[in-house]
Amino acid sequence: MTSNLIVQAPEGITKYTDRLADPCIMVIFGASGDLTKRLLMPALFNLYCGGLLSSEFAIIGIAFDNLDTESFRKKMSDDIKKFNTRKVFDENQWNEFVQKLHYTQGDFSDPEAYKRLAILINDTEAKLKTNGNILFYMATPPSVFELVSSNLQSSGVKNAEKGWVRAIFEKPFGHDLKTAVELNRLLLKHWKEEQIYRIDHYLGKETVQNLLAFRFANGIFEPLWNKEHIDHIQFSVMETVGVESRGKYYETSGVLRDMIQNHMFQMLAYLCMEPPSSFKPDAIRNQKSELLDAVRIMTPEMVRTHTVRGQYGPGKKWDESPAVGYRQEADVSPASNTETFACLKLFIDNWRWDGVPIYLRSGKNLWKRGTEIMIQFKNPPDILARGQSASNTKVPNRLFFHIQPDQGIELRVQGKSPGPTMSTQTINMRFDYGESFESSRGTGYEVLLYNCMIGDATLFSRTDLVETAWRIAQPIFDVWEKEIATDFPNYPAGGWGPKKTYDLIEQDGRNWVEVLSRDVLEKIPLFKDTGKIFLYNLAINLRPDIYAPGDFIIKKGDVGNEMFIISRGTVEVIDDQGKTINTMNDGAFFGELSLLNATPRTASIRAASDCDIFILEKKDFDRVLKNYPEFLSKIRKIAEERYKGGGFVPPWGQQK
Ligand code: BG6
Repeated sequence: MTSNLIVQAPEGITKYTDRLADPCIMVIFGASGDLTKRLLMPALFNLYCGGLLSSEFAIIGIAFDNLDTESFRKKMSDDIKKFNTRKVFDENQWNEFVQKLHYTQGDFSDPEAYKRLAILINDTEAKLKTNGNILFYMATPPSVFELVSSNLQSSGVKNAEKGWVRAIFEKPFGHDLKTAVELNRLLLKHWKEEQIYRIDHYLGKETVQNLLAFRFANGIFEPLWNKEHIDHIQFSVMETVGVESRGKYYETSGVLRDMIQNHMFQMLAYLCMEPPSSFKPDAIRNQKSELLDAVRIMTPEMVRTHTVRGQYGPGKKWDESPAVGYRQEADVSPASNTETFACLKLFIDNWRWDGVPIYLRSGKNLWKRGTEIMIQFKNPPDILARGQSASNTKVPNRLFFHIQPDQGIELRVQGKSPGPTMSTQTINMRFDYGESFESSRGTGYEVLLYNCMIGDATLFSRTDLVETAWRIAQPIFDVWEKEIATDFPNYPAGGWGPKKTYDLIEQDGRNWVEVLSRDVLEKIPLFKDTGKIFLYNLAINLRPDIYAPGDFIIKKGDVGNEMFIISRGTVEVIDDQGKTINTMNDGAFFGELSLLNATPRTASIRAASDCDIFILEKKDFDRVLKNYPEFLSKIRKIAEERYKGGGFVPPWGQQK
């Protein structure tokens, strides 16, 4: 059944393959729930339309809801209209596919339910000849994993005699190290390790899988991939969504459990592991396990100095709509200690990474959505700047993996800027999925389901991997649970996260490198309508920073080396007597005079609220201005307006 097939690249799977999924029956526990309609059905339908499912394939849904096959098919047919990811939804194809769906109602603790399930499986098997292959999908809370597994065993439904039997489990795998070890012990009572497929949907993302391809299918990066050449690594998973309707779950989770301990540690393992001897599942999983095993386990003192936690308070969403604070969300305690943001500094104690800090941060209700990995290489020597103009400062190379929503890879290097002098500026070499592939939007589950159906466990987690990941996170939970956060909430919804996240990295002489999109910059009036190339240059030159209420941002008399643009927050202008004479808010800028005029600051400016601020440094400012006279003119005009009266004479002469 494997050759002579012309299989198109189906939506959601960009890989061409000539192997069909094995014939099988897929039993979905929790089939009437959210996951089935939002992700599983659209993914299975994508596989079907791409010709990757065997014709001997059927789905049996089982759940407590009072449905039968007909009403289940009807429900799925309604839901798919909303959740399908296809460019063009083909009603006829869906009508064929829906015939593969069956349903049996049942309470997971009722032995009768399993008897009914067994009959349905046998009947389907007899009709379709699925070779006895069964895939159980646990789209259920983890609390029933054991119950379902043990009932499947005692009722004989899980009969491995004839074909393969596999089970996919959804996260979370445990609540902490102890419960994860216990859950693994219970699962291994009923399943063999090779039957267990633990889903981490991040591993279904093309861009995450591409980390491996990029590292191990290219010869030029591996020699650089170590402490000799890499200064540090940043992982950011920023979300604009809050906890939505999931307050109840989130209260028992927090971002460390929900995102970092699983999705981010998986990406960390891919990025930093040793080269595997092959791309066979265990060759890769062994290396991931070794890597996670080498992550330094934090002492309580390290937890206090190497981590930051945050919780969002009321604010404005990224789209300016009002947002409540986490403590005001439904099903959340008004005194909740749950973190919606976290930042960790990790070290990997092995020969490759010794001493290289790895910074990870993730949070909900932030100013932008974006999953990015940034690798900063060590600084080059200073030869270009010696005896040359001040604008030639050494800038490290940076490699970005854009995981989502932008998908691609970008290498920032220095290049000569056009003109008669040898001055350099940052430019980028970029690969964009959308420009290189006819890729299509899927759910990310296509590749995972397909791989499970062909018995390839590479993209799934193993018992030891799960436990090692918990082992890294456990000391952090221990301290955070014991030492209540007294500063919560410590960032406004829609903001950049807690200021301490910036302090953590700045103490090490480093900065967060934000990936800025055009939309974010265009929200600032100063940058509106400035053009694509200008915004591109600006985006790679702006440095973000956070100031807390009361922090002085500039002091009168100091010589300025940068100008400031307020992304969010309020600052006050202070006179010589310490009185507030003016305030500025979102979108305003200040500090430009020193740069235009190279004179000392004419006033002091202090943050009146939490302020998220972009900083444009003089060296970049000069470079940006050099090529964009209209921008210079715009700033000058605003400055003239601002300082009008009081005998202010623009040093650049009157603007037209
Ligand atoms: C889930 C988390 O695992 O991942 C959610 O439970 C989170 O809280 C989601 O929003 C993020 O996934 P993605 O694919 O949108 O980055």
